[in-house]
Amino acid sequence: MRLPSTLVAALFGVEAVLASPVVLTPRTPRAQRRSGRHTSPRIAPSDYSGTAQPTARNTNSTGTTTSYSANWAGAVLEGAHYVSVTGTVTVPQPQMPPGGLDEVEYSASVWVGLDGDTCQSSILQVGFDLNVRGGQASYDTWYEWYPDSAFNFEGFALTAGDVIRLTVTATNTTSGTVWIENETTGKSVSHTFADEGPALCEANAEWIVEDFLVGGKLMPMSNFGSVTFTNCSVVEATSTTAAESTSSVALYNIRHGEEVYTNCSTSPGTVSCEYV
Ligand SMILES: *[C@@H]1O[C@H](CO)[C@@H](O)[C@H](O)[C@H]1NC(C)=O
Ligand SMILES: *[C@@H]1O[C@H](CO)[C@@H](O)[C@H](O)[C@H]1NC(C)=O
Ligand SMILES: *[C@@H]1O[C@H](CO)[C@@H](O)[C@H](O)[C@H]1NC(C)=O
Ligand SMILES: *[C@@H]1O[C@H](CO)[C@@H](O)[C@H](O)[C@H]1NC(C)=O
Ligand SMILES: *[C@@H]1O[C@H](CO)[C@@H](O)[C@H](O)[C@H]1NC(C)=O
Repeated sequence: MRLPSTLVAALFGVEAVLASPVVLTPRTPRAQRRSGRHTSPRIAPSDYSGTAQPTARNTNSTGTTTSYSANWAGAVLEGAHYVSVTGTVTVPQPQMPPGGLDEVEYSASVWVGLDGDTCQSSILQVGFDLNVRGGQASYDTWYEWYPDSAFNFEGFALTAGDVIRLTVTATNTTSGTVWIENETTGKSVSHTFADEGPALCEANAEWIVEDFLVGGKLMPMSNFGSVTFTNCSVVEATSTTAAESTSSVALYNIRHGEEVYTNCSTSPGTVSCEYV
């Protein structure tokens, strides 16, 4: 179902405005590549479990569809010519899941990005991980142009309670800049990509909590409590025509087999996911 842009604006505060000028900040040196670690496009639960499972897809009157994924929880705005996406999150303290083992690392990623849902060839994304092992929480921040691996930012040590703004801006379909900013202090880290590939479609803008893959396997997911993206907005390219300026909202929850792990919802300017 397609929505008039005014309704999307009401849902998400979409600014169909001039693409904001990109402030190019000094390039952050690339941190060590994480072996085999990347966040990835949305996976349907049936792709993961190997058994065909019907995906619940209930379109309600606001044009929001709700369905399940093996790795993505959160909301995706599906439309055209998205060149920037942002959202603010308070970093939660991750816990072990019920029945968790001290020797196992549990994790989840929180990020904003462009593409990876209806367009699965590439994703421009920035975010952080919520790890816990033996009751000890740890965090790392990263940026990624999927399918390349994620790279860590250095010198930006998160703690629970930090209020963090995540922003991704594409300058064109193969270049862009990502930022993580401490909203309390204004301190930020950024990374600029130039001539990356494959090219973005700029068709999806999303706010996601992910059960990410390591070496092709889903990480055991940490109990992230609750993640709320506020001040969510996207910027459309100025070339967007009125006809193209329509979007639908896809809401996802993580499900493995019959087990559902998240309960996500949206309200104007907000995307919220609870661990259940
Ligand atoms: C549509 O679904 C979304 C997500 O579940 C929910 O937040 C919203 O309240 C629903 N709207 C209606 C009219 O049912
Ligand atoms: C963000 O700012 C708060 C308040 O000054 C500080 O306690 C925290 O360590 C900062 N976090 C980062 C990652 O800069
Ligand atoms: C995209 O932008 C980058 C950085 O401004 C530039 O180097 C590159 O040539 C551009 N690519 C295209 C295809 O316009
Ligand atoms: C949202 O944005 C408004 C206006 O820019 C700002 O005053 C407010 O502090 C922001 N709220 C959060 C939670 O980031
Ligand atoms: C999901 O959260 C809503 C409130 O946002 C609540 O009414 C509903 O019962 C929750 N569903 C589950 C399955 O936890």
